[in-house]
Amino acid sequence: MSRILNGIVALCPDLGIGKNGNLPWHPVRLNNEFAHFRKMTATSSVKGKQNVVIMGRKTWFSIPEKNRPLNNRINIVLSRKCKAPPPGAHYLVADFSSALRLVDIELTEQVDQVWVIGGSSVYKELMESPGTRRLFVTRILKQFECDTFFPEISPEKYRLLPEFPEVPREVQVESDIEYRFEVYESI
Ligand SMILES: NC(=O)c1ccc[n+]([C@@H]2O[C@H](COP(=O)([O-])OP(=O)(O)OC[C@H]3O[C@@H](n4cnc5c(N)ncnc54)[C@H](OP(=O)(O)O)[C@@H]3O)[C@@H](O)[C@H]2O)c1
Repeated sequence: MSRILNGIVALCPDLGIGKNGNLPWHPVRLNNEFAHFRKMTATSSVKGKQNVVIMGRKTWFSIPEKNRPLNNRINIVLSRKCKAPPPGAHYLVADFSSALRLVDIELTEQVDQVWVIGGSSVYKELMESPGTRRLFVTRILKQFECDTFFPEISPEKYRLLPEFPEVPREVQVESDIEYRFEVYESI
């Protein structure tokens, strides 16, 4: 079964997404931006089904312990080293295609949308995988120091959608930081 695969990310102008295992703007909290992440990833459009979030091990541990697992979502963690799911995670898989197989075979009746939530290499696998992919990007319009980066979004492979339901188009401001939401779809 081919589902649309979604990725969601907040990135700096240099495509930076992380610093020292945290968000680049840490300790500043962008609460409304986080609410957007929660709304997009947690809202299932099918009664009785949940969305899945797929993430690398470091992204899992970057989530404050009290917020793990991300609620109302099935949490799948990728690791080659771990032998069992980290405490709180629902599933552990050893590669990206196993995550998709888990969703499409074992969990197919329970799952609505699939969301890849980082980090770098997992986004890359999403962006290079076949089928329709959507990227929900928050462009943070201020540069912070970063050590982890999002892959280039190729204009030959992804087009910026002029609008998308539930995604505001105007520039947002929070804690003196401007940002805007964008949605890309694979061509
Ligand atoms: N701005 C944002 O929207 C955003 C989103 C997510 C994360 N972040 C930030 O990004 C940083 C974490 O991201 P990251 O890129 O460093 O790490 P990551 O992708 O979250 O985790 C890397 C680890 O995940 C496992 N992994 C990744 N791809 C895999 C695959 N295909 N198959 C099996 N295992 C795989 C490996 O675990 P093992 O080593 O255990 O094998 C790998 O070492 C943090 O700073 C976080 O705050 C930011």
